[in-house]
Amino acid sequence: MAQVMIEPDGIETEVPDRSPLVRALGQAGVAVETPCGGFGICGKCKVRFVDGKTPQPTDEELRHLTNSDLVDGWRLACRHRLEGDAVIFVPEVSRLTIAQILTTAVERQTKLQPAVRRFVAQVEAPSVSDERSDAQRLLKALQTQHGVDLSPSAIPLSVLRSLPAVLRQSNFCITVILHQAVSGQPLLLSVEQATSDTPPRTQHPAPSTPLLGIAFDIGTTTLVGYLLDLETGEELSHAARLNPQVQFGDDVVSRLCFVMQQQGGLRQLQQAVVRGLNEIVAECCQEANVEPKSIYETVAVGNTAMLHLFLGVNPEPIALAPYVSVFNEPVTVEAWRLGLRLHPNAMLTTLPCVAGYIGADTVAVALTHLWEPEGETVVALDIGTNGEVVVRHQGQYLCASAAAGPAFEGGRIYQGMRAEKGAIAKVELESDGDVRWLRVGTIGGAMPKGLCGSGLIDAVAALLKIGILDGSGRLTDEAADWQKQFINLNGQKAFRLVNPEASELSEGIVLTQRDIRELQLAKGSIRAVTEALLKTVGLDWSGVERVYVAGAFGMFVNLQSAQRIGLLPSLTPERFQAVGNAAGAGAKLALRSVTERKHAFELSQRMKHIPMTGNPRYEGALMEFISFPSRPYP
Ligand code: FES
Repeated sequence: MAQVMIEPDGIETEVPDRSPLVRALGQAGVAVETPCGGFGICGKCKVRFVDGKTPQPTDEELRHLTNSDLVDGWRLACRHRLEGDAVIFVPEVSRLTIAQILTTAVERQTKLQPAVRRFVAQVEAPSVSDERSDAQRLLKALQTQHGVDLSPSAIPLSVLRSLPAVLRQSNFCITVILHQAVSGQPLLLSVEQATSDTPPRTQHPAPSTPLLGIAFDIGTTTLVGYLLDLETGEELSHAARLNPQVQFGDDVVSRLCFVMQQQGGLRQLQQAVVRGLNEIVAECCQEANVEPKSIYETVAVGNTAMLHLFLGVNPEPIALAPYVSVFNEPVTVEAWRLGLRLHPNAMLTTLPCVAGYIGADTVAVALTHLWEPEGETVVALDIGTNGEVVVRHQGQYLCASAAAGPAFEGGRIYQGMRAEKGAIAKVELESDGDVRWLRVGTIGGAMPKGLCGSGLIDAVAALLKIGILDGSGRLTDEAADWQKQFINLNGQKAFRLVNPEASELSEGIVLTQRDIRELQLAKGSIRAVTEALLKTVGLDWSGVERVYVAGAFGMFVNLQSAQRIGLLPSLTPERFQAVGNAAGAGAKLALRSVTERKHAFELSQRMKHIPMTGNPRYEGALMEFISFPSRPYP
């Protein structure tokens, strides 16, 4: 065994010798960022060996770390195993932190028709002349009093075990909780002592317990849960977390690689997401002052790979051409099978997916805002770690995904970070006469320590306006008054947005030429997918009545900056609507109503996935939109 001391926390832990360092730190409660999935590509998992045997630098470390860093004991945590006792310093920038997570959304109202319902049943008491079993008498009461035909096999063993005591303690007047999925037989989830508002024949009224459900939006980066009262439809609380799978890679592809390359990788990822969801359940329940055992149903949405990982289904086919999923259909399963800590018989339902890269989250966005086929012509963009686009036009639904990469969430950007305290979220070009300067705004008003997606887009838009970034994306230092802001960073040109003394970082906040290329790829890919879909239905932007922008991106990005870099078209602002976490809103609709689940299924059947690989419309548009528009907007 090896003793590890983690600084500056002072945490001591003991792990088996030769444990992977990232895992050892995680076990001690110090999770390290591993955006590239621990493959030595991103250089963001830096730690310092303060004491103990410092390992020889690897090729990746020679690339990512300076000579003086290496001499000082800095290494990439993902590249090493522990060799004996060690003292490891983990800097703030290498730690996994909670980001600001978008939980609000523009919602759609629906009639309350939950799958889980509660009935009071007056069961006939047995007698010497009535020797039917307790179960038979319960089924008869449900049929005659509520018209519910339940087969004996729909009674779980746990309910059979509790039935005799509950019947007799309640003087045979009991509460029955049933789950009726969109199709198929109802299931009996629970029998309980009747509540205080049941008929007066109840001898032992118990306190009223709520009938709850929880809707999950399982994002690649974030998890959100919404706790609902299924008898009123009211949202009681919500909670959010970073998806703990982030420590295995920051995008879908890194996680798929992890599953394919690591033995037991699928299990680790499944357990990680369930751990995060259970934390959300606990937090929601604490806030609403209720018990997790009052949650009888959960509806989950997420992209196709995330749902595979959540259900423990190997998603390998999604990673390999022709990129098909193992399942697209909705899945209904007992929640305990996945490790969720809810009522022991609670059920889980996932919304349907469309294709390997068009998941239930996109269906949920469509369910919330595009569910009427004959509505106006609309483009819906969901820009997160992945970008998905849906076009609705005269009853047709076309959809596609963009391999945008995580640039909009700060991933693969030299000083990129998620939208959390200290992230530059806003960059504005200010002027006073001939003097011009850049003003930056950070989340929480803290000293700048990196750039998040909206800050990155603002910064690039500002450099275009100044004229020190050309249409091809090349930084040019021709403008004399900005020359002192240019630096050479490890052989590449970079523009310093914030000087070192005004930032948390010794080199200040910089935007590198490579960062600009990453942004070009991301925005070019999303815009090109949108253009290709519009062309497929014979439209241009003049025929688009509304553009819905879902996700945190839509809420926080500056529209003019997104238009200036060419990510969004130059339509008037009234035609854009930021709709927040529309995927989460769709999950809530489906939890509140089984009719909405039917709508979701119908939508998934109507949505036609247009592959972009080898698509000439996409490739032509990508060539055009990878550049920045020469004409500023407006
Ligand atoms: Fe270690 Fe990316 S280099 S996680």
